[in-house]
Amino acid sequence: MCGIVGYVGPRSAQEVLVRGLRRLEYRGYDSAGVAVAHNGSVAVSKAEGKLDRLVARLEEAPLQGRSGIGHTRWATHGVPSDRNAHPHTDTTGDFVVVHNGIVENYRELRSELQDTGVRFRSETDTEVLAHLVAAVYDGDLKEAVRDAIARASGAFALVAMTCHEPGRIVAARMISPLVVGLGDGETFLASDMPAVLDYTRRFLIVEDGEIAVVTGDGATLETIEGEAVERSPFTAHWDSDSVQKSGFDHFMLKEIHEQPEVIARTLGGRLREHPGGGAETALDELSWVRGDPADVDKIWITACGTAYHAGVVGRTLFERLAAIPTEVAYAHELRYSNPLIREGSLALAISQSGETADTLAAARLARSEGSSLLALTNVVGSSLAREADDVLYTWAGPEISVASTKAYLAMLVGESLLAIWLGRARGVLDTGAERELAAELRALPGKAESILGDLDKPRRLAAELARAGSIYFIGRGLDYATAMEGALKLKEISYIHAEAMPAGELKHGTLALVTEGTPVVAVATQQDVQSKMLLGLQEVKARRATVIAVAYEDDDEIGLVADHVLRIPRTADVLSPILAAVPLQLLAYYTARRLGRDIDQPRNLAKSVTVE
Ligand code: G6P
Repeated sequence: MCGIVGYVGPRSAQEVLVRGLRRLEYRGYDSAGVAVAHNGSVAVSKAEGKLDRLVARLEEAPLQGRSGIGHTRWATHGVPSDRNAHPHTDTTGDFVVVHNGIVENYRELRSELQDTGVRFRSETDTEVLAHLVAAVYDGDLKEAVRDAIARASGAFALVAMTCHEPGRIVAARMISPLVVGLGDGETFLASDMPAVLDYTRRFLIVEDGEIAVVTGDGATLETIEGEAVERSPFTAHWDSDSVQKSGFDHFMLKEIHEQPEVIARTLGGRLREHPGGGAETALDELSWVRGDPADVDKIWITACGTAYHAGVVGRTLFERLAAIPTEVAYAHELRYSNPLIREGSLALAISQSGETADTLAAARLARSEGSSLLALTNVVGSSLAREADDVLYTWAGPEISVASTKAYLAMLVGESLLAIWLGRARGVLDTGAERELAAELRALPGKAESILGDLDKPRRLAAELARAGSIYFIGRGLDYATAMEGALKLKEISYIHAEAMPAGELKHGTLALVTEGTPVVAVATQQDVQSKMLLGLQEVKARRATVIAVAYEDDDEIGLVADHVLRIPRTADVLSPILAAVPLQLLAYYTARRLGRDIDQPRNLAKSVTVE
């Protein structure tokens, strides 16, 4: 949610900033802007809309200079416009700031500043920070930033620059993420690592409550209270290839195609050969699992968006494979629901980015109520990863498309491993059952690959879906979770209304909306409820709906009721969500493509929602 970059070094700052913003555009694309320091002043260029509008402006009027800051915005306060675009400056134009997050008390600050004669030029909360920094500046930008943020409340990251201190940028992290990239005689700042992977893989994470002072020689860190912080840099394993489209038309399509590899990577090292043959799960990376898993009497899963759907799958996995009662709750609901979380329970917070504000808050709440916290996340060093007692990483690599695909599959793989491990440790699964599931897991990359071998059918069906006004997604049990994810994918990128519901619920109201030609996407892989599913589909067919089913390749009966069937290879039913999601991702992708939508950057959305 909003992306920040900063640069100090020998290169053209404009070039580095624009390239960084291009990588961060998935965090917001309502406007973009850069500020570059040169010859004792700071020049700002900004434009409403996507980064290309800013690039066009910069082509006409390039900014010279070797240090600067940049921003790509997801609007929270004030409509998307040139005026509200960052960077924001103080009245003199000497101080410039970019900001990610929300300044909660900005109204009070604004009226205080107005009382001193400051005239505001935007409707943003950010502008107060520029004026505050300027008002308290006394020759040291770091101190001015410290004073300014001491007066602001909320979760945000702030980066400031002034023409009075060329070659120096000051950043502060009050919850919202920030990393420093270390180069040779040049230093970078960014909301996340992909922004600057073209230049460096050596990073320092700025922790919550810290200030970073960045120059061409590196960065120094200190706490808001002024205590120096020593932190060793680490080397990121991601490389810049993983943030390029590599010949695909969209990041989403590329990421869909990466899924076989992602499944294999997330499984990697977590299945160990068993001396008696076959494989068993090995999660030695978790210190928590070295405790007594029998002590876990309840799991609370919390997440938002696609990660929540992974949680819905997880609930069934933990209950079925490990016999642990499990609740799954949207993080923004859990936070305000006075949940009966007790000691001995485990909170599993799922988040691709590890930065979703609501998920972090719910995870903290669960922990404060006495549960231990396990993070299932894709981003090493993310806030969630750092706060959790234990982390199970999904090794999906950077996900750029706003609509999540490969990160979702990796979450499901992580949960499957954990549920199987717990099941065996708690005596719910015997070794034979564990080995069978482990073998199924190992076969998944190949099976996912085979689904991707037939793009024709989803492409053709997309033509039909693109004409629809509403599409219903149904399923029972685990298939319902897949239906939820399928509906979300479709609506977020095609803008067609889509609704998921348990198949048995359709006749309690929504069937009234099903008429001739209404598309109904039925996920039908769960064998224990298959006969019920087929009966339900007959009812839908009787209303002349067009039924598109996702089913196993050897399911003969489904073809008798469905108009079209997207086939997936057979696997254990508990693992089928991992495969069944793939054709639905493709359906969503090709439908959105047909409609000419902005697939990687759908309107109004952002990849990482770091505000509440
Ligand atoms: C946003 C994204 C979704 C994502 C959700 C949770 O809404 O657009 O794709 O599922 O945030 O993000 P997280 O990083 O916590 O998984």
